Amino acid sequence: MTKKIIFFALILSVSWLGSCYRDVEEELYPCETTGLKYSVDIAPIIKANCSPCHIGTLPTETFFGTYETLKAVMEDPNSSFLCRINHDADCPENFMPKDRSKLSDCAISKIEAWAIDYQP
Ligand code: HEC
Repeated sequence: MTKKIIFFALILSVSWLGSCYRDVEEELYPCETTGLKYSVDIAPIIKANCSPCHIGTLPTETFFGTYETLKAVMEDPNSSFLCRINHDADCPENFMPKDRSKLSDCAISKIEAWAIDYQP
């Protein structure tokens, strides 16, 4: 009898733990896409994912490691910036970040939302 109770208690706690585990990230930390600032929200994403190639002291490619330069690149109507990070199937250019995994959906949403009013 005691064994059965322990057994059911185990099953219950395992499934309870499992259900906690599942709803972690998205519900506890929804992706914030309003009131974004370059200094707080965008610069860290660029720094983490586009360095050293685009933001180093000796960038090997188009430099966008500052507010002004990133804004200029993204405002350029011919820029492939968004199509590259979105891995758009019809993007004529190489996807970015080069040779690394795609940015998270949240990071892409933040960059797109920020590029509406470019808050510093
Ligand atoms: C490992 C190095 C590397 C990383 C990391 C990297 N890039 Fe690039 N990027 C390149 C190279 C090399 C080119 C030029 C060759 C090409 O077009 O594919 C390039 C070109 C670009 C261009 C086109 C620039 C222009 O003047 O037309 C954009 C936009 C771009 N990258 C965005 C990004 C973004 C955004 C990130 C970070 C999310 C990133 N890249 C991360 C190496 C990198």
